[in-house]
Amino acid sequence: MFTVRKFSKVGLFAAAALAIAVAFTAVGSTDVSADNHADRNAAMKSLGGAMKALGAAVGAGDAAEAQKVAAKISATAAEIPALFKDGKPGDSRAKAEIWTNFADFTAKANAMKAAADGVAADAAAGNMGSDPKAVVGKIGATCGACHKEYRGPEKS
Ligand code: HEC
Repeated sequence: MFTVRKFSKVGLFAAAALAIAVAFTAVGSTDVSADNHADRNAAMKSLGGAMKALGAAVGAGDAAEAQKVAAKISATAAEIPALFKDGKPGDSRAKAEIWTNFADFTAKANAMKAAADGVAADAAAGNMGSDPKAVVGKIGATCGACHKEYRGPEKS
């Protein structure tokens, strides 16, 4: 368990280093305005962690913690449009369609915010339920809806 966690941390650091390297490459090349690719990915990664924390809180029956985490997910959702707004498709998994369909992209971020707000409200009202998969899945469906349209395949 420990070694697995350690390993995945190393992987995260490597990915972060790569993201920074990519960001610098983009800034260094001609005619590419400073992109916030690293900020975007940091926000997305924090979402991955928050979803795990949410599942753990639900599993533990800790409604107060679940409410807190869901509120954090909601706040991050609200930041997504601004994080992507000035970006450009390039050496990342962000598809060009984000910037041609920005209203829809924003709507998908709003749907994620609404789902997270719903989970926070349920937790506050004591209606959260005890199934981590079901609770996390309510928000997870909205992550997937956006990734399906706007996140390209992994770069090798
Ligand atoms: C409105 C659209 C949208 C929503 C909603 C969204 N994402 Fe993303 N996500 C993206 C895009 C686009 C990328 C690719 C970004 C890039 O490569 O520059 C991405 C990338 C990621 C990555 C990879 C980060 C990396 O370093 O490569 C993770 C992890 C992730 N998202 C998790 C989530 C989770 C968890 C949720 C829901 C709680 C979520 N996302 C909701 C659009 C979205």
